[in-house]
Amino acid sequence: MPKLIVMTREGEERTLEGETGLSVMEVIRDGGIDELLALCGGCCSCATCHVHVDPDFADRLPPMGPDEDDLLDSTSDRDATSRLSCQIAFGPALDGMRVRIAAED
Ligand code: FES
Repeated sequence: MPKLIVMTREGEERTLEGETGLSVMEVIRDGGIDELLALCGGCCSCATCHVHVDPDFADRLPPMGPDEDDLLDSTSDRDATSRLSCQIAFGPALDGMRVRIAAED
């Protein structure tokens, strides 16, 4: 299975195996990392699944929609690498991708 490397807020690095078809948020949540709250369950309305994505993978990510863009604007830790992890479908094309969980708002 493709691997996702996750850096927690405490700086701990975890390597998770992700099922194709899950979102990056679901891979993180199913991997037992509970600091990613994902309060809305993945319907793009909360921004508590905010992560920073390795720039090397930027061109393999799905384009950002206007709702995601607006929600990220409401966060304090937004930068050029910010994405909502529930909006990224995981799969072999993202094998080895690193994400860092954003600061809590
Ligand atoms: S889980 Fe709520 S926006 Fe991603």
